[in-house]
Amino acid sequence: MRILSIETSCDETAMAVVDAKGGLKVPSFSVIESLVFSQIPMHREFGGVVPNIAKREHEKMLPVLFEELSKKIDPESVDLISVTMGPGLEPALWTGIEFARGLAKKMDRPLFGANHLKGHLYSFLLDPIARGRMFPSIALIVSGGHTVILSMKSLTEFKKIGETRDDAAGEAFDKAARLLGLPYPGGPEIEKAAKKGNPKAVLFPRPMLDQKNYDMSFAGLKTSLLYYIKGAHKADWKEFNKPSGSVRPDDYENLAASFQAAIIDCLIGKTMRAADNLKARSVILAGGVAANSSLRSAFAEGAMKRSMSFFAPSMKYNTDNAAMIAVGTYIEHLSGIKRRISAKGDLGI
Ligand code: KG4
Ligand code: ZN
Repeated sequence: MRILSIETSCDETAMAVVDAKGGLKVPSFSVIESLVFSQIPMHREFGGVVPNIAKREHEKMLPVLFEELSKKIDPESVDLISVTMGPGLEPALWTGIEFARGLAKKMDRPLFGANHLKGHLYSFLLDPIARGRMFPSIALIVSGGHTVILSMKSLTEFKKIGETRDDAAGEAFDKAARLLGLPYPGGPEIEKAAKKGNPKAVLFPRPMLDQKNYDMSFAGLKTSLLYYIKGAHKADWKEFNKPSGSVRPDDYENLAASFQAAIIDCLIGKTMRAADNLKARSVILAGGVAANSSLRSAFAEGAMKRSMSFFAPSMKYNTDNAAMIAVGTYIEHLSGIKRRISAKGDLGI
């Protein structure tokens, strides 16, 4: 099955063509083309995603990406068109839906409404991997909008066992970066700064880590960072070189490293506890924050210690892209899921 997929849930305009085969037992994928146009430079000066700018840029770029794709493949060879219908920013989602509707009509092909979170969840299938010893599995989806832990019996049978009670981990990275005077999106900036800092410089709290449930909380952690900066500011910091003017350069690296360590401890602690309690054979990591190399190595190490397999998408498929939407579409389509297509900002997994 050849799938043409479209993703416009946030600030990436993405389109892909993916060949899928093998059914639900041994699904395998071959990415013919995966195009991602990032709007980050347009949103950066506002410190976050501006929905109207996202909408305008998606509208501008969708035809450009389709033209680019058409040079590579014959649109006639496509069997199914799919488009992300949620979760995400509704004005942004609508642009993808409207474009996909027009395309489906013009090409006379069926249109599938895809779930962005399922795209993240299944994105690791884009790589040819060892399939043995996968289930039961514990999956952590960790992005700018979501932080959820799933207990999976198979690719299609799973339930949510934990989630953040407030900010998503990616959002915490983004907010912390702003406090430290680093640009949007904060995750990669914090990671870069953290490489030069000491993760033990400041002991930030690990919210909810000692609770037996699998829920998390990151809003308080950000507040701790804010108080730390304010306190330190009051004490003796007079020379400020960073753009936001709040943290001394030699300290923002320590603060970034310490903040990142606290988030990673919470994510790892909760996921591995679930994996131990539910006797998982593997752990799956997905979503934009999975691009963080310290998080990935902590996951790989935790899984290895427990003789569990570890699955995560390759680097280019962690943050938003359309190839993962095609993968999610194939799995959902085969398991009989059908949705009335409409933008659903809060579509759950
Ligand atoms: O999955 P994604 O591209 O979009 C959503 O569905 O939200 O995730 C974006 C999030 C942002 O919060 C960004 O700061 C974070 O992923 N992120 C990272 C890294 N790269 C992206 N967080 C930590 N370390 C990174 N290297
Ligand atoms: Zn995403």
